[in-house]
Amino acid sequence: MDVIDDKEAFRRACDGVRLRGERLGVVPTMGALHAGHLRLVAGAAERADRVAVTLFVNPTQFGPNEDFARYPRTLAQDLERCAAAGVSLVFTPSVEQMYPPGERTRVRVDSLTEHLCGRSRPVHFEGVTTIVTKLLSLTGPCVAVFGRKDYQQLKVVQRLCADLLLPAEIVGLATVREPDGLALSSRNAYLSASDRARALAIPRALSAALVHAGTDGVTAGEIKRGVEQTLSQAGLRIDYATVADPDLLQPLAHDVPLPPRALVAVAAYLGDTRLIDNVVTSEDPPPIPS
Ligand code: PAJ
Repeated sequence: MDVIDDKEAFRRACDGVRLRGERLGVVPTMGALHAGHLRLVAGAAERADRVAVTLFVNPTQFGPNEDFARYPRTLAQDLERCAAAGVSLVFTPSVEQMYPPGERTRVRVDSLTEHLCGRSRPVHFEGVTTIVTKLLSLTGPCVAVFGRKDYQQLKVVQRLCADLLLPAEIVGLATVREPDGLALSSRNAYLSASDRARALAIPRALSAALVHAGTDGVTAGEIKRGVEQTLSQAGLRIDYATVADPDLLQPLAHDVPLPPRALVAVAAYLGDTRLIDNVVTSEDPPPIPS
């Protein structure tokens, strides 16, 4: 496994894979790798001959009062996990490598970024789309694998690649969960034992929403209210609980009957820790198996 911190060396290594006639799979991450990330690596390996993982805590996608400084950084363990997963290339750039002195460019996708996480994290997606554009410009043609855990991010990156003609096939893979249903997240490391237990209201609310979605004539508003009730009864502070179109990400009108495919997405705080999760009806299994 080659560990590369220089961007031109990483570009050459990715070109080298293709020159050998091999297909490159790429998994962009911010490190603190867990089984969810490793599932993406396995998914990339199923679709490509060589897998590259990028480890970079991207400062521009964090707001001024967010957790950039305290975001977990576990490089040695991440490298061990990548090696054990059969990764060929790991890219670990510095901030200066990715944002050269004098840099003035941001990439913005509109509309899809206005709702859900875009409302409470105004600079977030601009940071994500800027860094993903830079990373894919280094990797060149590839299959890039993202998690449905960050469903809005996946849709925004798909739009970005289509609109900027980036030569990456974007694949979205199912959310990996703990046996009790909690979605794996690097931010789970911030939770105390009691907050960890209360966080289970999130998969519980989403599982109930999937059951509720099967009721004839149920409306988007009823699903939303059910989710909000479960979260607030458990003492979570809700950022949003939204029922939306799964492609355009626009919230659905409350009084319309739920369409067969609908995105039910939540963001909620436990103390200072913000967790997100989602399901798409008719596509995702219940987070807590019944
Ligand atoms: P990060 O939060 O490290 O996540 C990297 C990838 O892992 C994302 O595609 C995310 O959706 C996926 N992922 C996280 N938890 C998952 C889970 N429980 N199951 C399945 N996939 C999961 O997302 C980012 O980093 C950054 O925004 C990035 C795209 C790297 C740009 O900086």
